[in-house]
Amino acid sequence: MSKLPVIIDCDPGHDDAIALVLAFASEKLDIRAVTVTGGNQTLVKTLNNARKVLSYIGKRPRLAAGADKPMFRNLEVAEAVHGNSGLDGPALPETDYKEEPIPAIDLMRQIIMESALPVTLVPTGPLTNLGILLTAYPEVKKNIGGVSLMGGGIETGNWSAAAEFNILVDPEAAEIVFTSGLPITMCPLDVTHKALLLPGELEALRKHGGKVSVMVAELVDFYYRYHVGQGFAGAPLHDPCAVAWLIAPEIFTTKDYHISVETRGKYTTGMTFADRRPWTTAKPNATVCIDIDRVAFISLVIEACKSFG
Ligand code: RIB
Ligand code: CA
Repeated sequence: MSKLPVIIDCDPGHDDAIALVLAFASEKLDIRAVTVTGGNQTLVKTLNNARKVLSYIGKRPRLAAGADKPMFRNLEVAEAVHGNSGLDGPALPETDYKEEPIPAIDLMRQIIMESALPVTLVPTGPLTNLGILLTAYPEVKKNIGGVSLMGGGIETGNWSAAAEFNILVDPEAAEIVFTSGLPITMCPLDVTHKALLLPGELEALRKHGGKVSVMVAELVDFYYRYHVGQGFAGAPLHDPCAVAWLIAPEIFTTKDYHISVETRGKYTTGMTFADRRPWTTAKPNATVCIDIDRVAFISLVIEACKSFG
């Protein structure tokens, strides 16, 4: 079976880095490019983190920097979660691996329009790059196979009571994506809060001792301290869920909903609102992952780490 062409759009970010490990370990994906956006940290930092993580795992895909701020708002970063560097924890070596001197949306457009097979987009940060891509180059839609995104929340938010960070940072871009008509699979907090790496599993990963296993363990050591404070029994691996959907959809339980993105609410801006009325006539615009086989998911992540030696 031919590999699925994908572009990963990310804001590394600890869980973005683990999503990159999972993606590049998979035989099922043909990663045509990685693009970067501001989000967890400023674009300068998330780009630097992407360069270092990819180089460290021995991968040098086509790489381009995208938006350094949301489409119509100022950037809000998540320093409390990811630290000042955006990837605090492991000391990753510097690298001469560099991004291409073109904007992310131009690289995305080139790859999508030249691909013999439809390209799937995998955004794991704010949706700014996709929002701009679909606005500037609407012609790309005919060769986008789908979008598998981490973002949103049906029953809860995280960065606000109503909204999840990726959507809250750029709700206008998210609205563009959710109204694009593209096939969307959404991995909201409802599923990613169940995608927990438990302390015993973390120690088993560290004990494996491989370079990528140790890097991921050190990433989680830093990342989990924020979540322990919120009462999580393990580290929620948000972004790897968007990759896991593409390589093992069978481990997810999904429902199709019509999702609207709030862009103007005093208390609810960034909320992803699912129309769950049994009698609704609203046509679903997203396949929403609502549950996960956690053990199978963690096994995918751990095997991916080990596959690097
Ligand atoms: O809310 C979780 C999301 O926000 C993840 O993508 C994490 O990396 C941060 O970007
Ligand atoms: Ca992210």
